[in-house]
Amino acid sequence: KGCKLVGCGSAVPNLQVSNDDLAKVVETSDEWISVRTGIRNRRVLTGKDSLMDLAVEAAKKSLQMAEVDPDDVDLVLLCTSTPEDLFGSAPQIQKALGCKKNPLAYDITAACSGFVLGLVSASCYIKGGGFNNVLVIGADALSRYVDWTDRGTCILFGDAAGAVLVQACDSEEDGLFGFDLHSDGDGQRHLNAAVKEDEMDSATGSNGSVFGFPPRRASYSCIQMNGKEVFRFAVRAVPQSIEAALEKAGLTGSNIDWLLLHQANQRIIDAVATRLEVPSERVISNLANYGNTSAASIPLALDEAVRSGKVQSGHTIAAAGFGAGLTWGSAIIRW
Ligand code: ACO
Repeated sequence: KGCKLVGCGSAVPNLQVSNDDLAKVVETSDEWISVRTGIRNRRVLTGKDSLMDLAVEAAKKSLQMAEVDPDDVDLVLLCTSTPEDLFGSAPQIQKALGCKKNPLAYDITAACSGFVLGLVSASCYIKGGGFNNVLVIGADALSRYVDWTDRGTCILFGDAAGAVLVQACDSEEDGLFGFDLHSDGDGQRHLNAAVKEDEMDSATGSNGSVFGFPPRRASYSCIQMNGKEVFRFAVRAVPQSIEAALEKAGLTGSNIDWLLLHQANQRIIDAVATRLEVPSERVISNLANYGNTSAASIPLALDEAVRSGKVQSGHTIAAAGFGAGLTWGSAIIRW
């Protein structure tokens, strides 16, 4: 059995925040941000917006493109590090889509690598048997965990959702040629939004103590990042991973039509492309418009490239995600 990508979709919040807008909040400039990162604008969820609404919109568009009914979806994988429920948000998407068969739906938490892990997971479910239509959604709202006084991080992130429908097919038509996945918990110190335990408030009782000790109420810290270390990690690990995935697929950089990296920094994208000898006209980038949208960045960029006619049926794409965890991974796919 094989699997192929048959539909994609994306959705972004309405509010656009430019570099000049950010320069009113922190000491920075359009020039500094665009030269160091390539980012010019990002979309940000406002108080009333729901990330899950964006995820549902992206998923619906991918089903429409694939001409697949929600009732025929067998599995919903929501790749997100910012769910709207601690216990996971994927079942809410399954409900909103009206998938009547009650298909399995669960979250995958792997920050900016989430979508690639979701794609590979979808292929494993399909090739293992019993699953024909798997929705892989990447959706994140890192703006909710950004410290808006930290100019080293708040300039980077934006919110978005993207989705792909992966469908079972004959093995000759298989559209996932090879993959390579890794993580390194030692690097968590360079990029994290760790849980912080606050003393429980007065709602616990007069002395703040239950069962003889003060219970804790957890929340998450803002994103902490050592940008230089993350940059070094990305330019070292990502080309190695893509080369490993290409080797498993029996391909080289010159065989691929498109290089589609997680959109984090244009200098990272350019460095990886140079290392793999992929010319800039074969590199997909929409980072300038959306910033780093974490698990959404690859399906968002793919959706724009497909709908604009850049990526066409039969094209081979080397996709790679990398980020917090640390996690990183690549997949060689055919559109
Ligand atoms: N505006 C103006 N000046 C700034 C800004 C800003 N927004 N941010 C930092 N600076 C200053 C610093 O204070 C520093 O000043 P100093 O020399 O007086 O101390 C100077 O600019 C250089 O700062 P660096 O942090 O060394 O700048 P660098 O060239 O490393 O660029 C950046 C920083 C853009 C964050 C870069 O390191 C980067 O992109 N790293 C990768 C980050 C990334 O992709 N993370 C996401 C991974 S995905 C995920 O899973 C979340």
